[in-house]
Amino acid sequence: MTSPVVLQTEFPGLPVRRGKVRDVYDLGDALLIVSTDRISAFDWVLPNGIPDKGKILTQLSLFWFRLLAEKDHLISADVTSMPLPDAVDRQLIDGRAMLVKKSQVVPIECVVRGYLAGSGWKEYQANGQVCGIALPAGLLESSPLPEPIFTPATKAESGHDLNISFAEMVESVGEATSRELRQRSIQVYQRAAQHAQRCGLIVADTKFEWGWWQNELILIDEVLTPDSSRFWPAAGYAPGRGQPSYDKQFVRDWLESTTWDKNSPPPELPESVVAKTRAKYVEAFERLTGQPFA
Ligand SMILES: Nc1ncnc2c1ncn2[C@@H]1O[C@H](COP(=O)(O)OP(=O)(O)OP(=O)(O)O)[C@@H](O)[C@H]1O
Ligand SMILES: [Mg+2]
Repeated sequence: MTSPVVLQTEFPGLPVRRGKVRDVYDLGDALLIVSTDRISAFDWVLPNGIPDKGKILTQLSLFWFRLLAEKDHLISADVTSMPLPDAVDRQLIDGRAMLVKKSQVVPIECVVRGYLAGSGWKEYQANGQVCGIALPAGLLESSPLPEPIFTPATKAESGHDLNISFAEMVESVGEATSRELRQRSIQVYQRAAQHAQRCGLIVADTKFEWGWWQNELILIDEVLTPDSSRFWPAAGYAPGRGQPSYDKQFVRDWLESTTWDKNSPPPELPESVVAKTRAKYVEAFERLTGQPFA
């Protein structure tokens, strides 16, 4: 059963901050993060959504928070019992919302890479390094790295994130914080990658965000979803070429097949592309959690 698409939420009197995918409501000490069904590709939000995508991402993050048992920001994902202003439509956000501790965000995207892909592969080809970390010669596109590496980035106001070196991260947020986040990010990645491997998936890389809350660094934002990670099916994986993107490949392929110039609002996706994409999100969820997506 597919639920109606939720492209946007809006509640009278509650200011909202919209990311590409999530609507965030500031409730004082807490944030209400609502994952919509919006999907982006080539840095554009597409006009139509993927039914249930927001629910799938929220439920997958919840699964990981439980499995990882890191200190994290989750207060509740049960919309019936969350303390919320009356204006919030609980039915609309059911299954796609998290009430979280509002933390002071560390302004670094904590990227961990286990494989060479994306901007890492580009940089390696140019100088044999990724974010200042020298790597062995002879690696191919999608090769596994000798060990997972921490490659921080700064959140750009618009467009792509900017990769930085660990030294630049230290300059920005301090040595102790940088060391702790590097160590904890790699550790969380390793545990998640091990779990994913048992489910037939490779976590090529992923991005974490951390925030200060009561003098501790806690894991915030979404974790280990197809939107924050590169998942590859282990079956069919081979270095020496790009791997199919787990979730957005149909969307990207279809967009590439049109005359769209990537510089103007993108066209509407055909129903078949929407359905196939939804099936991939569901598949990622079901494989990783071992649960049917209800
Ligand atoms: N516990 C938290 N405390 C404070 N801020 C948080 C917390 N969890 C997530 N955030 C912030 O909430 C925002 C989530 O919004 P979202 O990811 O949708 O938008 P974005 O990162 O600005 O844009 P993009 O669509 O490019 O990801 C992020 O800025 C993230 O840093
Ligand atoms: Mg974000």
